[in-house]
Amino acid sequence: MTADRYVPSREDHFSFGIWTVGWQGVDVFGGAVRPPMPADRAVRKLAELGAYGVNFHDNDVFDFDASPAEREQRISAFRKALEETGMVVTTATTNLFGHPMFKDGAFTANEREVRRFALAKVMRNLDLAAELGAQTYVFWGGREGAESGAAKDVQNALYRYAEGFNVLAQYVLDQGYHIRFAIEPKPNEPRGDILLPTIGHALAFINSLEHPEIVGINPEVGHEEMAGMNYAHGIAQALWHGKLFHIDLNGQNGPRYDQDLRFGAGNARGAFWLVDTLLSGGYAGPVHFDFKPPRTEDDDGVWASAAACMRNYLILRDKARAFRADPEVQEALRAARIPELAEPTLTPGETWRDVRDVQVDTEALGRRGMGYERLDQLALEHLYGVR
Ligand code: GCO
Ligand code: MN
Ligand code: MN
Repeated sequence: MTADRYVPSREDHFSFGIWTVGWQGVDVFGGAVRPPMPADRAVRKLAELGAYGVNFHDNDVFDFDASPAEREQRISAFRKALEETGMVVTTATTNLFGHPMFKDGAFTANEREVRRFALAKVMRNLDLAAELGAQTYVFWGGREGAESGAAKDVQNALYRYAEGFNVLAQYVLDQGYHIRFAIEPKPNEPRGDILLPTIGHALAFINSLEHPEIVGINPEVGHEEMAGMNYAHGIAQALWHGKLFHIDLNGQNGPRYDQDLRFGAGNARGAFWLVDTLLSGGYAGPVHFDFKPPRTEDDDGVWASAAACMRNYLILRDKARAFRADPEVQEALRAARIPELAEPTLTPGETWRDVRDVQVDTEALGRRGMGYERLDQLALEHLYGVR
């Protein structure tokens, strides 16, 4: 029996939100099926599975209403587990969605007191994130949005959203923290419509900020696919802008509620092209999973699901590499003129004058097939495991 090639190592830089394995299975229609999981247990078990790092919300480690003593005790246990396992805090974030006070959002809540408290809550956790060595801070605005037209003046909401990011970016710069921000888009759920719903909206928004250089994005597979977008295309554009600061990998089966399936268990073709895009596109951040072990699972099922996220990534990475190394694929890529797209349309030194009256054989160009079906079938056969 050949040694299993799909065993994660620290060098793979797999990272998990600790809220994923800690999810108790609560949903709109039912209560918890699993007990709460202390942050330190999540760290230790993920380390055993071969993970490299973790991501956390403040209230994954200590409760919203924890006393200073309780907060310190929970952080010490978390820090001890990190030290004993060598797990890295790659990322951190803030729970700005659980407490009822955030029912109408945090940075874009109509009520100004909520917005001011939210900024303070984030600054407190930025201090902890910096102390623990996190380099990326995620902002998922799950409650920033509305269910009805008059409830949210969207232009004012965007002014307040930008104000929040500007204040917090200034805080990070003034503190000298080596932290960059990553906005996580999502089209809906829990709000009827969430602001900054897709990669495109977030990329455009970043340009309006006072410190865009430290703000990028953290796109999630399921969120883009909920919006009917092609996730691989979205992360390719984020890479093109130099703004892919982090990723939330999971599985999704098309436009429906946010399934947060383990990575690879949803749109498998999309997962293959996503891994291919990350391998070729120069993403240097952690390979981070944000998934939810289904409500059907007990504790053993939670860890089987977490291990499978990494295993599926390694399997697809193997297949994507084999696809790109396949001589028949390389020939099919050439036949489809893929390399030609890397060639600028104008030769250096040419201007519009050199193409203004260009002559081409439009009939011949119209007749010539692209050969994409043969190329895609080769990719599918690598994915199906017959090549
Ligand atoms: C979701 C989001 C969250 C965020 C997490 C980090 O629940 O739909 O994906 O899991 O990623 O709160 O900000
Ligand atoms: Mn999600
Ligand atoms: Mn997410």
